[in-house]
Amino acid sequence: MSHPFDYSNKRVVLTGAYSGVGAALLDVLAELGGPEVIALDIKKPEGKISQFIETNMGKEDSVAAAIDAIDGPIDVLFNNAGIAATHPVEDVMAVNWLGLRQLSEGLLPQIVKDGAIANTASIAGGQWPGHLQDVLDCIAIDDRAEFGGWCIEHKERIGDGYAFSKECVQVYTMKSARATLASQVRTNSVCPAPIDTPLLPDFNKTMTEKTMNWTIDQIGGTIASPRDIAMTLAFIGSDGSRYVNGVNLNVDMGFNAFMTTGQLDFSGLA
Ligand SMILES: NC(=O)c1ccc[n+]([C@@H]2O[C@H](COP(=O)([O-])OP(=O)(O)OC[C@H]3O[C@@H](n4cnc5c(N)ncnc54)[C@H](O)[C@@H]3O)[C@@H](O)[C@H]2O)c1
Repeated sequence: MSHPFDYSNKRVVLTGAYSGVGAALLDVLAELGGPEVIALDIKKPEGKISQFIETNMGKEDSVAAAIDAIDGPIDVLFNNAGIAATHPVEDVMAVNWLGLRQLSEGLLPQIVKDGAIANTASIAGGQWPGHLQDVLDCIAIDDRAEFGGWCIEHKERIGDGYAFSKECVQVYTMKSARATLASQVRTNSVCPAPIDTPLLPDFNKTMTEKTMNWTIDQIGGTIASPRDIAMTLAFIGSDGSRYVNGVNLNVDMGFNAFMTTGQLDFSGLA
């Protein structure tokens, strides 16, 4: 029997492999047996990959071309690419949400029995319980023109797009887990707290440096490394998590636990 976290002889697709968490995941996968990695990104990764398909996850035709270009069976799809709200809201929703769903549904027929989809969401997307129906309504829309109309009508809910796009990913992870299970494919996400990646300065701008530093301070003062998140992604993609499905796994050193049990100290935010 093979090791539960072994990736040798596997074939994975990874979006956002050029930097940050995706680049760290290339290293972790190499340590776990060195699967074949098909990388989708706007920039060619320097890490160990088998194939690069230049793909803009925010463009429907680019994602469709990538789906066409990927032949054969896939063991794990890692939907990791994402952008901050330093970009226009339409782009944030397109890259972080629409592209992720399009790739997942386009590649599902090729994902093998006992395979997995692993999404990179965020703790920023954890506020959906307060307005679940809005998120369910949004993720039910397939037609892009109709989606655009819904976004205009709900622009206050969507805000700058970042948190809402990650709410869509979290709720979709739970909803689509039932549909993918019919193909014996599990779907889960990681929901990280701030990570020390090239995206962090963008979040310092959009969410304020004070809020980001306060969040890190509440969890002991040490920011997550890209590798911390990559290791958890590797876990939810591996056979070691074979009975885990539809889970949004907070990788936040307890931030959500402390929030739920009333243990965050908000005085530093005043
Ligand atoms: N950094 C954080 O604090 C943080 C916290 C929680 C969640 N996340 C999420 O982690 C994931 C990885 O981000 P990161 O922090 O490693 O940032 P990063 O900027 O280092 O990595 C993002 C990757 O996505 C690629 N990318 C950007 N736009 C793209 C597009 N249009 N099409 C295809 N690829 C594109 C980039 O080239 C890069 O390889 C994202 O989904 C992000 O939202 C980040």
